[in-house]
Amino acid sequence: MPCDLDSLKRELQKLCCDAQESSQQLKRVADLPEAKARFLGRKGAFGPVMRLLGQLSPEERPAAGELINSAKSKVDGCFCEAKMRLEQAALEAKLQEGRVDVTMPGRRLLPGGMHPVQRVLDEVTDLLGELGFELVSGPEVETEHYNFDLLNMPADHPARDMQDTFFVEGGLVLRTQTSPMQVRTMEKRQPPVRVMAPGKVFRCDFDATHSPTFHQLEGLWIDRDVTMADLKGILTYFLRRLFGEDREVRFRPSFFPFTEPSVEVDVRNDAGNWMEVLGAGMVHPQVLRNVGYDPEQVQGFAFGMGIDRLAMVRYRITDIRALFENDQRFLRQF
Ligand code: DAH
Repeated sequence: MPCDLDSLKRELQKLCCDAQESSQQLKRVADLPEAKARFLGRKGAFGPVMRLLGQLSPEERPAAGELINSAKSKVDGCFCEAKMRLEQAALEAKLQEGRVDVTMPGRRLLPGGMHPVQRVLDEVTDLLGELGFELVSGPEVETEHYNFDLLNMPADHPARDMQDTFFVEGGLVLRTQTSPMQVRTMEKRQPPVRVMAPGKVFRCDFDATHSPTFHQLEGLWIDRDVTMADLKGILTYFLRRLFGEDREVRFRPSFFPFTEPSVEVDVRNDAGNWMEVLGAGMVHPQVLRNVGYDPEQVQGFAFGMGIDRLAMVRYRITDIRALFENDQRFLRQF
């Protein structure tokens, strides 16, 4: 180590240059303390220089002390500057990262869709509304009396069997059909009566074409001179409006305890198969008597349609379970 003032000056200049270079090369605030300590720390580069002091003559020492102090503050200044530079850069990076680009397009919300069953139901009620049918509704938990007895289905009727009906305690059932609404309506009103009653019905049955919960719509038209020809005309008109003019419709003789005569109505689906979509018939005189009507004076027809079946034909759905499983890939198509 040199031991005169000039060489001390040179040594200090070199230290300052090194410190400046080192501080300028710093990339992260976190690296700063270590770099600074290499110069100003206890074991830093100024240590050996301080020891030089002792080798200088007493006259030289004050000047040497001043030189060292000013060099130290220069070095300290370099690191202060570096600190400011790095902190500013870090702040800018953070701002950049959290920047919101207000010109970006907004996040799109997927609109909800109408379920196919609801869509068909809305169409059906609109159409029947045009034909003068008034919307009514009734309970899903029904008495056996309304669900069966008053509809001419006595206690030993096979449809009351455990396999089909969900029984609730106390003579109640989950309604197996919307037909009790015929009775409930006629009990409250006098003819002419023209109503439709859509709703959920329940049966103990589950496979590709049967669901334990499905939807029916009951229609009823009672007046002085309503005939089987009206039934056929109205239902054919209705189905053609719903499915298109050239849709094939077929009436088959059938049996229901609460209608006489009774029919079942099929439409041909797009695969060429006949699909049963509704049951209908002239309201049985016994049912009319049950509600206090005189079958000699008034008569009419009733029909019950399966809304889920109509949706299947309409949207070419082959498995009824697709309507209940809430698979987004299926529902998104509507
Ligand atoms: N309730 C019958 C069923 O669930 C459908 C039905 C048939 C309703 C004939 C009617 C009717 O109103 O006249 O299978």
